[in-house]
Amino acid sequence: MHFFQSIQLSTLLPSILMLSTAVEGVGIRHHKKHSCNGNIFKQCSSIASYTCCGSSRALESTRFLGLGDTYLGAVCTKKKSEDCGSVAKASTGSNLCLSHKNIRGAFWVDCTRCLKRGIVIDGDDDDSDSTDEYSDYNVTAVVEPDLIGFNGYTFHINYDVPQNITDTFEVLADEDASVEDFPDYLWDYYAGMVDDEE
Ligand SMILES: *[C@@H]1O[C@H](CO)[C@@H](O)[C@H](O)[C@H]1NC(C)=O
Ligand SMILES: *[C@@H]1O[C@H](CO)[C@@H](O)[C@H](O)[C@H]1NC(C)=O
Repeated sequence: MHFFQSIQLSTLLPSILMLSTAVEGVGIRHHKKHSCNGNIFKQCSSIASYTCCGSSRALESTRFLGLGDTYLGAVCTKKKSEDCGSVAKASTGSNLCLSHKNIRGAFWVDCTRCLKRGIVIDGDDDDSDSTDEYSDYNVTAVVEPDLIGFNGYTFHINYDVPQNITDTFEVLADEDASVEDFPDYLWDYYAGMVDDEE
């Protein structure tokens, strides 16, 4: 019983911390296609500022969900395993969608002060190196997406999901698979429907 109780306490603390980040309510959704179109996405459902939502695959656009008006969203390319890479494009606005080739990560910050400096980066050139302004953002943590979406159906990946199941979903996304063809065991990880147009 003591053992069980100490487990409960130690799991309670992180979940309280998670709740405090959830209050921010920002989600980062990476789409396989540009302009945040297409049926397939991967999402970090509730992500703290200065935290990178990474992707093992190169993606073409990122939607920021619940981003306040003074918040800045940024997408990165050239990610190494332990960092978010270089900022390729950044902008503000609710329902922001940023398209760029080879997106490997994205993050958001509360930009009340930096907005006064008019920071908006639009690096359509893949080799653009206009990222110095972001070097002081110290985006250190890179987290994995917790959801993968196919045609509005979402499934849990990473975290509590076995690696081979996550890998299976990634391959299905690479193949543009349709949920009708999913084997039954994958539906154990079904997480619900989302509106793709939200
Ligand atoms: C980022 O990290 C550097 C080195 O650790 C530190 O000097 C700087 O103050 C940090 N910047 C911010 C905005 O926290
Ligand atoms: C995933 O790995 C587990 C444990 O190694 C195994 O039992 C299961 O059959 C694997 N599932 C798939 C879909 O590969």
